[in-house]
Amino acid sequence: MYSSNGGGSSGSPIKKVTVPDLRARKVSGEKIAMVTAYDFTMARLVDEAGADMVLVGDSLGMVVQGLTTTIPVTLDEMAYHCRAVARGLGRAHLVGDLPFMSYQVSPQQAVESAGKLMKEGACESIKLEGGQEVAEHVHRIVRAGVPVIGHIGLTPQSVHALGGFKVQGRGADGADKVLADAVALEQAGAFAIVLEAIPPDLAAQVTSLLSIPTIGIGAGASCDGQVLVCTDLLGLARGHQPKFAKRFANLGDAAVDAISTYVTEVRAGTFPSASHTYKPNAASATLRAREPLTADELDAPLALDLWH
Ligand code: KIV
Repeated sequence: MYSSNGGGSSGSPIKKVTVPDLRARKVSGEKIAMVTAYDFTMARLVDEAGADMVLVGDSLGMVVQGLTTTIPVTLDEMAYHCRAVARGLGRAHLVGDLPFMSYQVSPQQAVESAGKLMKEGACESIKLEGGQEVAEHVHRIVRAGVPVIGHIGLTPQSVHALGGFKVQGRGADGADKVLADAVALEQAGAFAIVLEAIPPDLAAQVTSLLSIPTIGIGAGASCDGQVLVCTDLLGLARGHQPKFAKRFANLGDAAVDAISTYVTEVRAGTFPSASHTYKPNAASATLRAREPLTADELDAPLALDLWH
């Protein structure tokens, strides 16, 4: 038995963050806050905290599956996690990542994969990596009625081609490529673009060039919004952290403390105490020594009151 938080946020009707709302932020200047989530429980927390967008990133390959790259993540796995996250959101806009080789092959493949995340994953938009080389794919997905977010700079699905998880857009050629990719994505119909691991001055240049919002991760403060991986920002991740991954809390250490206290109490027999134990049978009742259960008794459904 596990505790469930119930579905969606409660209380008065919630105004969902829409694609037009997000596009309008480019004009209003109100920054967009985006966070990743991979399951229902985290989605509830991120939504309650007021994030505008929740990304089910293919970073789940590292965060959830313990892989070293995002490359093995499948479209079915993405749809599964998107579905779980969707159930936890009330206000935030849900973006699903198209994983490696689910859209690069052809525009038609891209449309089909985007459709799967919308239908099976309950996504409200999709994100994919790449610039000029995927512009036609973006155009076709948008024409099918699916809002698209681009992702340029460091594109983790191309980690082997890039020679590692390295800052992109360095030098005149590197900067020109990022600028050309950004323009190609906007022209193809993307409604926002993630800029990952590029110099802040280049990100500022892209941001002022485009009429759609930029969402930075390791791209400085000039972007129209920011995105972080939830486990990085909460300090749940162990091991190496990228330079841009600010820890806003240290929940990993808090979790280890809590679990080690539990282990100690179980070993000492102090957990569970009376306050975490069901009421005993009436004090006056004497427990009968009884015969083994009959076959009928074993088959009878249990009437359990587990909550009191
Ligand atoms: O997969 C992911 O989480 C991402 C973000 C880091 C932008 O693409």
